[in-house]
Amino acid sequence: MKILVINGPNLNLLGIREPDIYGKSTYKDLCDMISERCEHDNIDCEFFQSNHEGDIVDKIGESLGKIDGIIINPAAYTHTSVAIADALKAVNIPYVEVHISDLSKREDFRQVSYIRKDALATVSGEGFGGYIKAIDILVPRTK
Ligand code: DQA
Repeated sequence: MKILVINGPNLNLLGIREPDIYGKSTYKDLCDMISERCEHDNIDCEFFQSNHEGDIVDKIGESLGKIDGIIINPAAYTHTSVAIADALKAVNIPYVEVHISDLSKREDFRQVSYIRKDALATVSGEGFGGYIKAIDILVPRTK
């Protein structure tokens, strides 16, 4: 069982970026937390963070035949990227959408998600714990 955890633009700046919204822990802290959980459950886990839409599209395409499930926080691309939504649909790998902040309580432009429609679930507003919840949702539903 191998999962891929994709984080989109500016999530490399966790800990520095708007800590009142995203918290004070870093991207490394996030990966360490997820790795610990995956090791405990014997899940192979790969991390990918990029600030570039095309690189995320490429990574999703390359996952075909290698990855059983995807956890994705597309960050700002959530609200704009038909290309990432199409890539997820193309590979047909089950995925869970995660947002650290609670999108329902934020600006109007964050209320649109191109990623949500085909996701197994969207977890929003649960901080870093949302990624652990995503593992719990994803793993039993992988093929
Ligand atoms: C985010 C929410 C997005 O609206 C924002 O652009 C992000 C992070 C979140 O995790 O809460 O970069 O996806």
